[in-house]
Amino acid sequence: MPASASRTAQPPRPIRPLPDQLISQIAAGEVVERPASVVKELLENALDAGSSQLGIRLEEGGVRRIVITDNGCGIPASELPVALLRHATSKIASLDELEAVLTLGFRGEALASIASVSQLSLTSRTANDPHATQVSADTGALQPASGGVGTTVDVQHLYFNTPARRKFLKSEQTELGHCLEMVRRAALARPDVAISVHHNGKPLEHWNAGDVATRTAQVLGSDFARARLPLDEEAGELHLYGFAGLPTASRGRPDQQYFFVNGRFVRDKLLNHAVRSAYQDVLHGDRFPSYVLCLDLPPETVDVNVHPSKIEVRFRESRAVHQFVYHAVQRCLARQAGENGDSLHTGADDEPVPAPGTIQLQEPRAAYGGAAGGGSQWINYSAARQTELGIAQPRQAYLGMVRDATAPRPYMPSSQPPAWLADAQAARAAEPPGLLDGIAVAKVALPPSGDAAQATDDHPLGYAIAQLHGVYVLAQNARGLVLVDMHAAHERILYEQIKDALDARDLAVQPLLLPVTLPANPVEIGTAEEHRETLELLGFDITPVSPTTLAVRAVPALLQQADAEALARDVLRDLNAYGGSRVLAERRNELLATLACHSAVRANRKLTLEEMNALLRQMEQTERADQCNHGRPTWVQLSVAELDRLFLRGQ
Ligand SMILES: Nc1ncnc2c1ncn2[C@@H]1O[C@H](COP(=O)(O)OP(=O)(O)O)[C@@H](O)[C@H]1O
Ligand SMILES: [Mg+2]
Repeated sequence: MPASASRTAQPPRPIRPLPDQLISQIAAGEVVERPASVVKELLENALDAGSSQLGIRLEEGGVRRIVITDNGCGIPASELPVALLRHATSKIASLDELEAVLTLGFRGEALASIASVSQLSLTSRTANDPHATQVSADTGALQPASGGVGTTVDVQHLYFNTPARRKFLKSEQTELGHCLEMVRRAALARPDVAISVHHNGKPLEHWNAGDVATRTAQVLGSDFARARLPLDEEAGELHLYGFAGLPTASRGRPDQQYFFVNGRFVRDKLLNHAVRSAYQDVLHGDRFPSYVLCLDLPPETVDVNVHPSKIEVRFRESRAVHQFVYHAVQRCLARQAGENGDSLHTGADDEPVPAPGTIQLQEPRAAYGGAAGGGSQWINYSAARQTELGIAQPRQAYLGMVRDATAPRPYMPSSQPPAWLADAQAARAAEPPGLLDGIAVAKVALPPSGDAAQATDDHPLGYAIAQLHGVYVLAQNARGLVLVDMHAAHERILYEQIKDALDARDLAVQPLLLPVTLPANPVEIGTAEEHRETLELLGFDITPVSPTTLAVRAVPALLQQADAEALARDVLRDLNAYGGSRVLAERRNELLATLACHSAVRANRKLTLEEMNALLRQMEQTERADQCNHGRPTWVQLSVAELDRLFLRGQ
């Protein structure tokens, strides 16, 4: 009461325009949030000036000093004081130009804002000037200076005159981290520009001008470089290109997601959503894909003047843009999955022969990098022991042996798909598997009598030959050995099957002869009651039979092999966590992953050859079958050449 009373009691001041300096300081609140914002604005100016080389020197995380030097067009001496004025720009002169702006800056307020909260000097020289000229922002005085063509902006003691803001700054390392993130964005947007960074006098980064593949590998690191898919799609005036990281390169935080619109880094809800949706089928909900994607489109179809920091944009045709980005990324991911071992391993046979005494086995993940995937990682280990033991094999004899063995083998189609693998209807009619156990190995492995090559083309994953430690299926195809993680592969197949059935509203229900009861807590009971309809849609009948007990009376037919109690608990947990309506919309794929994981064949389950072959065939039919729902690969190819290297020791 006294406070408001005293406020109202004050006589109102006369209305006056704010002084220029104060206006800039207010604007700086929006534009210059921290040292990183200064770095961003200065880098944008340097790039707008057509620079091909940028030097960034930071002191104390940029709080003490930020110096950015470029070799761009420079500013004529007469314009230097103007550059520091509010709303002074060389980039646009009319509304029409604003609507078609292609430069990163256009508001003409960055230098003025920064100068209002720091000690700033600007040194510049154009190609026509005999020497550089320097202007200091606080005096406005011009003086001759040394330096080549280009501009140097020196920003010292940020917020020296606004201590309240200064207090918000974090530690030196944190501020440095934010500054470096701005540099990374510029570096990814412009691989054609050489960039170097120093901090407290020490060199931190140096990137030569190069291509996108090299720059993204340098900036995002080798994990990304090894597991990324090149993307380049055009539709009408839209052009999307860059690299989509494979699920194997996904991260626990969304810290490697770079989207550029006409060269400008943006964080845009619409684009994020499009990319996220494209990844949904191959990535578990708590993982974040890595990507560097650039969208180019006519500047007049995108409004970049939405926010002073220009990090948000607005598309005129937002739906079309969303659809285009979504489909392009999804196609890119699906294309990868649809390819068979041949294309996954492009060039694997041309790898250099390893030095004698060591074996170099290409890490399977490296192969996922594709043609543009950059370096591969090698696992080295010594094979010298065999030489010591005097075991020498004549190369020719060995090769002959291997080549004979690579002749494709016939596939003996099983009369019925095995129960655990088939769809709901077939499952009900199937005969119990396992009849061919033991003898089947010899039968199926017989040399071909028919057109085996044809069969191999139809079945790129080849034919099962054995199961290893109850975890892996070994199969032989034309290229060599295929190793399948059977749980992951089955999970992926089930996931797609449930998804299709759910899409078609055709999820077969399997009533349980004997209901399964489970002790439940009040949250589980409440969730079951509240989300009854959603559960029904999913093929579940889970109802409370007492205040502490739930009964499961039906499960989706596709999941009838699963442990009903554990399945029910997890479904209720997902429903509770994501909410009933959302679980079928944006969180649907998490739920599908939960369901699929429960029902997928477990390790140590002995499979017959029939079952293994059925699994391979289903994998071939399933889109994206080479990545499980958690983003792990489901199978890898080891070519005969790779196997050869294991034994020939570099000959
Ligand atoms: N590094 C630079 N090289 C050449 N000119 C520059 C540079 N930095 C700033 N300028 C000039 O100063 C003007 C004002 O810069 P700024 O305040 O960032 O506004 P904006 O970038 O929005 O035009 C720019 O329009 C440009 O003409
Ligand atoms: Mg600018």
